[in-house]
Amino acid sequence: MKTILLFSIITLASLTSSNLSAAGDAAAGKASYMICAACHGVKGEGNRGMQSPRLAGQDAWYIASSLKRFKDGTRGANDPVAATMVPMAKMLSDKQIEDVSAYIATL
Ligand code: HEC
Repeated sequence: MKTILLFSIITLASLTSSNLSAAGDAAAGKASYMICAACHGVKGEGNRGMQSPRLAGQDAWYIASSLKRFKDGTRGANDPVAATMVPMAKMLSDKQIEDVSAYIATL
């Protein structure tokens, strides 16, 4: 009985972690966010003067998707404001994109 219970817990734990495997590590992403805070604010509140939008309250998947599009140049190519984000996104590895997006989702 104990073995079955243990097995169930392990199975559940591994199912849960595989479901979360696409999600980033918010604690690790905090360090990457320090540079972002210069424009987007420490709490992700945005800064209109810098034309930097609020990020707080946004979903991690959308932040990550935007960063990937800035990184590959599909977003920011023909827009000087959006182009400021291209080098920011290029600094980040794919893992850092997932992590910083997870952090922003906590703001
Ligand atoms: C030099 C200022 C600056 C810095 C630093 C900066 N950003 Fe931005 N960010 C902007 C601007 C300006 C925009 C608006 C782009 C546009 O109009 O499309 C933007 C847009 C974004 C968007 C899109 C938001 C949306 O609603 O579509 C995301 C996501 C984002 N930034 C994340 C980050 C992250 C993560 C970092 C740190 C790695 C960062 N930014 C650093 C200026 C900055």
